[in-house]
Amino acid sequence: MEVSFALLLFVLLPLHGAASSSCPDLDPQLKPWSPGHDEDNLVNISLGQALLLSSSATVHSILITNGGKLVIKDKTGPIVLRTRHIQIENGGEMHVGSERCPFQSHLTIILYGRADDAVQPDSYFGRKYIGVGSGGTLEVHGEKKLSWTFLNKTLNPGGLQEGGYYFERSWGHRGIIVHVIDPKTGSVVHSDRFDTYKIKGESLRLVRYLNAIDDGMILSVAVNDEGSRSLDDSARKAMTKLGSKHFLHLGFRHPWSFITIKGTPSSSVEDHIEYQGYRGSAVAKVFKLFQADNGEYFNVSSTSEWVQDVEWTGWLEKPEKAKSKGGERLLDFKAAHPEVCDHPVDIQAVTLDGAKLTTEVLYKGGRVIIGFLRPGTERHELPKLQSRFYVVKNVRPKLTVTIDTNVNSTILRLADDARSWKVRDRIVEVANADYSMYQAEEFQILPCRACRPNEVKVAGVLDQATLIICNVEIIILVYLLKLLQ
Ligand SMILES: *[C@@H]1O[C@H](CO)[C@@H](O)[C@H](O)[C@H]1NC(C)=O
Ligand SMILES: *[C@@H]1O[C@H](CO)[C@@H](O)[C@H](O)[C@H]1NC(C)=O
Ligand SMILES: *[C@@H]1O[C@H](CO)[C@@H](O)[C@H](O)[C@H]1NC(C)=O
Ligand SMILES: *[C@@H]1O[C@H](CO)[C@@H](O)[C@H](O)[C@H]1NC(C)=O
Repeated sequence: MEVSFALLLFVLLPLHGAASSSCPDLDPQLKPWSPGHDEDNLVNISLGQALLLSSSATVHSILITNGGKLVIKDKTGPIVLRTRHIQIENGGEMHVGSERCPFQSHLTIILYGRADDAVQPDSYFGRKYIGVGSGGTLEVHGEKKLSWTFLNKTLNPGGLQEGGYYFERSWGHRGIIVHVIDPKTGSVVHSDRFDTYKIKGESLRLVRYLNAIDDGMILSVAVNDEGSRSLDDSARKAMTKLGSKHFLHLGFRHPWSFITIKGTPSSSVEDHIEYQGYRGSAVAKVFKLFQADNGEYFNVSSTSEWVQDVEWTGWLEKPEKAKSKGGERLLDFKAAHPEVCDHPVDIQAVTLDGAKLTTEVLYKGGRVIIGFLRPGTERHELPKLQSRFYVVKNVRPKLTVTIDTNVNSTILRLADDARSWKVRDRIVEVANADYSMYQAEEFQILPCRACRPNEVKVAGVLDQATLIICNVEIIILVYLLKLLQ
C-alpha cells in the first residue's frame, strides 16, 4: 500500500480591473452551472462561457481556456467539487471570492483518482492538480486565517486536567448530593446536599428541590456515606418518578449513583450496591455522554463508594499454644495479636529463616484456618514461622462527580492566537523538521467552549507532536488518498 498526495499548484495574481463588482459571483453575466455527478464529464469552459458553480459536482476534469471563466457561488451551502484536475490557461479564469470580497461559504475541492487508472498524466502538471498555465488566472480569497503555528506545549490527551469539573467528598458530607447540570453547556448550575441520615426534614427539602428544577436539566444524584436512615416515602417516590429503580430500596450505607434528564425517566442510568463493611470495598458507578448545543460532547460520571484503606501488619510469630495440624486458626492469631482483623485481604508467611511459604485460607465450620504449605509439598508439621496480614485499617466513604469535556479529543496549546480556526476546519500536523507531507496527519477542529484564544480542540486522542501547520486562507481541502497498489 502506498500513500499518494494530491499536488496543488497555485499562482495568485492581482485582480485585473475587469470585475464589475468586488464580489465575483455577483457578475450578472454568469450562467448558473450545476453539472451534477458524472465522472466521464470532460468540462471545457472556453470562449464566451462564464459559469457560476452553484452546487456540489463531480466531473472528470475541468479545462478553463480561451477567455472561459468559472466562479464559485458564495453565501450558499457547502460545495464539494470532485475532479481529477483543474487546468487554467490562455485567458481562462477561476475565482473563489476576491480580495475585497472574501469567500464566506465552504468549498472543498477533491482531486480524485488512482495511480493505476488508465488516465494519461499531463506532461507538466502530472496527476491531481489545480494547474495554472500561461495566461491563466486563479483567484482564491477566503477568511483570513492563521496559516500555521507551533505547538507551545506538549499535547494533552484530553482528560480533566484540561477543563471540566471535578467534585470529591468523604467524611463530613453525609447524605444525598445533587448536581444540576445545564445540558446546553455541560456546566454545573447548582448543587446541594441533603442529610437524609440525620434530619427528618431533609427528605421534604429534597423533594421540593427536585420539583423546582426545570425539565430537561441533567441531574446527577448520589449517596455519600449514609443517606437512608431518615429518608421518607416522599423522597423515595420523587426519585422513582425521575427514573430510579433502586432508590426505593436504598439501605444503610448503600452506595448509589444516578444520572438522569429531569422529565425523561427513560434517560436514567443508575448503579446500586450493598454496604460490605470491612469485608470489601463497594462502588456504585455510572456515566452518561451528552452533547452541548455547540456540538461539544461531555461525559458526566459519578461514583458513590466505600473505600478500604489497607496495610500489612508487621511479621507476627505463630501463637505458642496453638496446635492445629498443618495450619493455624485465625482466631488464635487474633488472640495473640489484636491488630489482625476478621477478614484479612491477604496473608503471607515465611519460616524464621526467611523461606517463603504458600498460604491457603480454609473456612471450616465457621472458623478461618490458615494452612501453610511449602511450595510443592503436602501440608505437614510446620517449622517455626511468622506471618503477616493485609488488613483493612478502616473504610471511608467517597463520592465523586466529574464532567469531562474532552471526550475523544485533545486540546492543543499553540504559540499563536488561533481563533480564526473554526469548527470543521482541518489542520495538518507535521511532526518532523523537513515539513514532509508524507508524515503529516490531518485533524478536525471541534467546538470548544473552554478553549483559550491560543487553544483548539481536535478530534482524537493524539500522541506527542511538535508542529502544526494549518491550511492556507481558504479551506481548500486536499484529501490524502490512500492508493492500493
Ligand atoms: C475546448 O473548447 C475550445 C473551443 O470550443 C476548443 O478550441 C478546444 O479544442 C477544446 N479543448 C478540448 C481539450 O476539448
Ligand atoms: C466517561 O467517564 C467514565 C468515568 O470516568 C469513563 O469510564 C468512560 O469511559 C467515559 N466515557 C467516554 C465516552 O469518554
Ligand atoms: C469515542 O471513540 C470511540 C472509539 O474510538 C467510539 O466508539 C465512540 O463513538 C467515540 N465517541 C464519541 C462521542 O465520539
Ligand atoms: C507559551 O506559553 C507560555 C505560558 O504557558 C507563555 O508564557 C509563552 O509566551 C508561550 N510561548 C509562545 C511562543 O507563545
